[in-house]
Amino acid sequence: MLVESREIHHTHSRMFERALFALCLLTLVLFQSAASCELRPVLAQVPKRLPAGYVIPETKDGLSLKGCAAKPVAYTSSDPDFTVNTDGAIITVHGLEITTKQFSVLVQDENGMDWRVDIILSCKDEASQKSSSVALKRTKRRWRPLPFNLVENDKPPFPKDLETIASDSSVNYTVYYVISGQGVTTDPVGLFTLNRNTGLLKVTRTVDREQYPQFNFIARVFDMSGRETDEYLPITVIVQDQNDNAPEFIGGRFFTVEERCRAGTVIGKVNATDKDEPNTPHTLIKFTLHNATDMFSIDSFTGVITSKTNTLDRETQDKVYVEIEIRDMGGAPSGHFSRGTFVITLTDVNDNPPTFKEKLYKASVQENQENVLVTRIPVEDKDLVNTPNWKALFEVTKGNESGNFRMETDPKTNEGLLYVIKGLDYEKTPLVKLEITARNEAPLVGPENKWLSVPLELSVGDVDEGPEFNPDTLFLKVKENVANGTVIGTYKALDPEKKNSDGIKYYKMTDPGNWITVVENTGELKTANTLDRESPLVRNDMYNITIRAVDESKKTGTGTVIIKIQDVNDNIPMITNPDPILCNKGDTLSSVLVEAMDLDRPPYSIPFIFELGADHDGSWKLKDTTDSSVVLEQTMPMPNGLYSVPLLVKDLQGFGKEQTVNVRVCTCEREDNGGTCGARSASSSLGSLGILALVLSGLLLLLLSLLLIFICSTKRDKLYINDDTGTGGMLLKSNTEAPGEEVKEGALMIIPGIGLDVVDGSLQSGLMESKNVTTASGRYGQSFFQGGGVYNTTTQEFGTEKYYSSGRYDNNLYGNATMQKLTNASALDTWKTNGRYLDRKLAYFGDEEEGRYADDLLKTYGHEGMGSPAGSVGCCSIVGEQESLEFLNTLSPKFRPLADVCYTTNRTGN
Ligand SMILES: *[C@@H]1O[C@H](CO)[C@@H](O)[C@H](O)[C@H]1NC(C)=O
Ligand SMILES: *[C@@H]1O[C@H](CO)[C@@H](O)[C@H](O)[C@H]1NC(C)=O
Ligand SMILES: *[C@@H]1O[C@H](CO)[C@@H](O)[C@H](O)[C@H]1NC(C)=O
Ligand SMILES: *[C@@H]1O[C@H](CO)[C@@H](O)[C@H](O)[C@H]1NC(C)=O
Ligand SMILES: *[C@@H]1O[C@H](CO)[C@@H](O)[C@H](O)[C@H]1NC(C)=O
Ligand SMILES: *[C@@H]1O[C@H](CO)[C@@H](O)[C@H](O)[C@H]1NC(C)=O
Repeated sequence: MLVESREIHHTHSRMFERALFALCLLTLVLFQSAASCELRPVLAQVPKRLPAGYVIPETKDGLSLKGCAAKPVAYTSSDPDFTVNTDGAIITVHGLEITTKQFSVLVQDENGMDWRVDIILSCKDEASQKSSSVALKRTKRRWRPLPFNLVENDKPPFPKDLETIASDSSVNYTVYYVISGQGVTTDPVGLFTLNRNTGLLKVTRTVDREQYPQFNFIARVFDMSGRETDEYLPITVIVQDQNDNAPEFIGGRFFTVEERCRAGTVIGKVNATDKDEPNTPHTLIKFTLHNATDMFSIDSFTGVITSKTNTLDRETQDKVYVEIEIRDMGGAPSGHFSRGTFVITLTDVNDNPPTFKEKLYKASVQENQENVLVTRIPVEDKDLVNTPNWKALFEVTKGNESGNFRMETDPKTNEGLLYVIKGLDYEKTPLVKLEITARNEAPLVGPENKWLSVPLELSVGDVDEGPEFNPDTLFLKVKENVANGTVIGTYKALDPEKKNSDGIKYYKMTDPGNWITVVENTGELKTANTLDRESPLVRNDMYNITIRAVDESKKTGTGTVIIKIQDVNDNIPMITNPDPILCNKGDTLSSVLVEAMDLDRPPYSIPFIFELGADHDGSWKLKDTTDSSVVLEQTMPMPNGLYSVPLLVKDLQGFGKEQTVNVRVCTCEREDNGGTCGARSASSSLGSLGILALVLSGLLLLLLSLLLIFICSTKRDKLYINDDTGTGGMLLKSNTEAPGEEVKEGALMIIPGIGLDVVDGSLQSGLMESKNVTTASGRYGQSFFQGGGVYNTTTQEFGTEKYYSSGRYDNNLYGNATMQKLTNASALDTWKTNGRYLDRKLAYFGDEEEGRYADDLLKTYGHEGMGSPAGSVGCCSIVGEQESLEFLNTLSPKFRPLADVCYTTNRTGN
């Protein structure tokens, strides 16, 4: 079946033309395409004999690509007998004879696209059956017919002729045609009808392209016997567009943009659509803005809205309604159009600072008030309420140099709340001038905008206040040991209102050592006691007292005085180990380290100067002197024993004194820890015997002399027993009564009422390890013991004589049991108990002290216990010089006969 369509325009009727095969004519059919670049084959009639260089007449003007936008640039022939010259004419290469000829030419256009054009040549003068058979053959190739065109919205009358279809088989048979498919037998049924005999296709009603852009159906051909004589033909009907639809908006109609955005900021895109055929002027939409053109502009083709200025202001208008028109046909007046209103919302930026309502604010507050709300400062902000662009922050930009103020924001009202956090002083500033600046939480936008400030005058109310010390803390530098009563400074307080100190009285609040007195009326500070830099009350050379000032209305103020005590050389270096042990190594000479300490600090202290005392015997020498120690070395071997070495120790300033180092030379049991003496040697046990002998003889002598005094007393008063137990004297260490170096007298007496405080245990002998209990009576009545075994040097005052004593306190001297015993004994301080006490003491020496004295003591006292008029006399009591003779009252009744004698004598004498 062949369908030929010629002159495809908007023609509706068409004559069916049949080719003439009988003639030896060549027919050239040039297929053209209207919209698409579809090329039709070239059918040409040529003579049978073709000379070389024969131009096929139908191509004389060149093979053009009609309907194609692009121009052809190159041609290639598929048949070597033909060539195509540059302007598209087909020429024979050499002479040839043809009946029919079919080939193709490849055309390349300027866009680089290839097109194929079929060329069919037929012989004109050989109108033979051959050629017709060729033509028949050709029809078998079944050219697909071009789509038929149908205009939408066509006007009546209907039906209208569309196209005629025909089959080649109608040449041999009587045929009829049948169509079926879309628009015929399926929806929209009956749109197309066909004259079954002529093959004329008709359309019965208006078609809407937007509904059916094209139809596809098939045509079939049958002979009268109902046999299908040809293959069926697919037919396509394309509905041609008319601009029958207006464009429409799609998508939302709301846009947002920040106010003050710069010109040209893209705000959004307006989307539109048109149902007409795409890519035609029917759907070419132009966008136009109808109003608000001073603020925005729209791109005609894309619909993109941009801002036109940078002065969009939310505070003036926060929503802009703009009318937009869309029109097809590229905006031509003939085009269809729609209009729509779009909303552009401006969002807030912080382009308005908070502003103050007044030019000057005034407020008042009482002085010294703290954490009080002084005033509220209202502000206005045009920006969006309750956003960081609106919320105000306040600051005191002037007048808060000393941090008196704090500002907060009332979250509801946005007011500034001014608080005083540090009390103000009316006397200093009765009127405080402040500058208050308000800001927002968000930074400010816009170069012309600034944060605003406002002055505020705050008047301070006067309140009667307590006195104030000036300065708060007074520093004084005082030398230590200044005389009592020295004025070291004056610390005055002022009445803040009156600016004077009238009527203010001063009192001490703290003064840990009671070293200072303050003169009540003047505030003068005087020393009441010795300032001692070495006292534990002083830290880093500083001693602090606090003073209270009280005015007439009983208001008070306090101040601190820090006294910096400057060091003076009031301590000399003292030997810290005056009783060292030196292990006897026979002929090998040994040495011992002697150390010293000075409580002062340099330059009144180390380095010390060590020298042997003037009357040393040459058996020792000094070596290896360091800042605070020296090594004492034997110059000759010496037997075991106690050796006193006079040693002069001086501080850097040359202050010092000669001290005695009692070196115990012994055979060491162990040598660690400076050495521990072994079992006592013969010489020292002899020594202890000697001591006892001497002690006893001394006591006897004393008793005798007392007796003499007693006898010689002329008083006739009755003897009485004194129960006052507090009259005991102090026990002092004394070497004067000891004839030999090794012998030292020990005295032990307990004075009730004072208790153990005044236990002088300078009990030393060659046998005992040197353990001392020293009365350490400090200058201020304080003991500076720092724990057992630690050396202390203290200054004692006794009468007018000053001397230094050094000692070591050892809790283990007698053991607690013994102490208890002695304390009990002291409570029974009568003549009877004195005797008993001495007995016990002897017994103690006998049992407790490892029996060391047992032999000596028991032996000695065994003889004297009976019949002696003196009764039992202790070895250890020594009576001080100032002691009254009352002790005589406590002597045993055995003295009574003596007293009687004396009394009688006296009376007789009278
Ligand atoms: C018509 O009939 C002739 C002779 O029978 C035959 O050669 C030819 O091919 C037929 N044509 C068609 C289109 O069938
Ligand atoms: C328009 O289309 C674009 C791209 O699809 C989209 O981003 C934009 O949001 C649309 N505009 C509106 C107003 O819907
Ligand atoms: C633009 O026109 C629309 C519709 O007439 C109107 O609602 C809108 O207020 C106008 N906008 C301006 C900015 O004039
Ligand atoms: C005032 O100064 C103090 C201390 O510098 C500070 O803590 C306070 O915030 C300041 N007050 C204002 C309102 O600026
Ligand atoms: C100062 O007085 C105190 C107590 O009255 C007294 O202990 C101290 O020895 C005195 N000091 C001087 C240096 O006079
Ligand atoms: C005295 O006050 C000063 C300064 O406050 C302090 O450093 C020092 O430790 C105080 N001294 C004593 C003994 O409390």
